Amino acid sequence: MSRKYKGIIFDLDGVLCTTDQFHYLARKALADHEGIYFDETINQRLRGVSRMESLRIVLEHTDQVYSDEALQAFAASKNSVYRSLLERLTPSDMPADARPTLESLMEKGYLLAVGSSSKNTQFILERIGLAHFFDAVADGNDITRSKPDPEVFLLAAERLRLPPAACLVVEDASAGIEAAERGGFDAAGIGSAGHNPHARFHLERLSQLLAVL
Ligand code: BG6
Ligand code: MG
Repeated sequence: MSRKYKGIIFDLDGVLCTTDQFHYLARKALADHEGIYFDETINQRLRGVSRMESLRIVLEHTDQVYSDEALQAFAASKNSVYRSLLERLTPSDMPADARPTLESLMEKGYLLAVGSSSKNTQFILERIGLAHFFDAVADGNDITRSKPDPEVFLLAAERLRLPPAACLVVEDASAGIEAAERGGFDAAGIGSAGHNPHARFHLERLSQLLAVL
């Protein structure tokens, strides 16, 4: 195989499934409970950002100082609401072309991985029926530095036994595109990163990957 990419590393939330609204509702419930302003625009900034860093951004809109214990309790409470919302997640919450695109990539011999900041990655992959497609998963449970740090993508590539230059990262968040660039990966931007100038490829839908590879 002499082609440039041997592995494709997918972000999860916003690329393989639509969980933004569930994250939003769970964060909004927490913010409302604490009397803190929160809206969809702030939620957009949290794409690709780890659970604790996202919480810190939610709390930017209050002067209240919280203890570490309170922060941990907030994160746990948000996650428990989020997990109960994820129970509603079905394969209809993934783009219609996700499964056929993954099948084609597998048939063409690409190694496939997920590189996500989410600690709920495995649960989500199982809910949408995609878990079996991936040769490697690196997620929020494996890393200490969140995107835009490249740690999660470097770990996914290592688990595929491929160097970054042989992997293409597919991302919807600017933090993820930056992480890819810092790690030495080419990136394909999709969704809100569909026009990101740091991405090598710009996709309107996942199936377009098959044309650019
Ligand atoms: C990312 C989302 O995929 O996962 C972020 O884009 C989220 O918004 C992060 O904060 C962590 O998610 P979780 O599921 O571990 O709380
Ligand atoms: Mg994402």
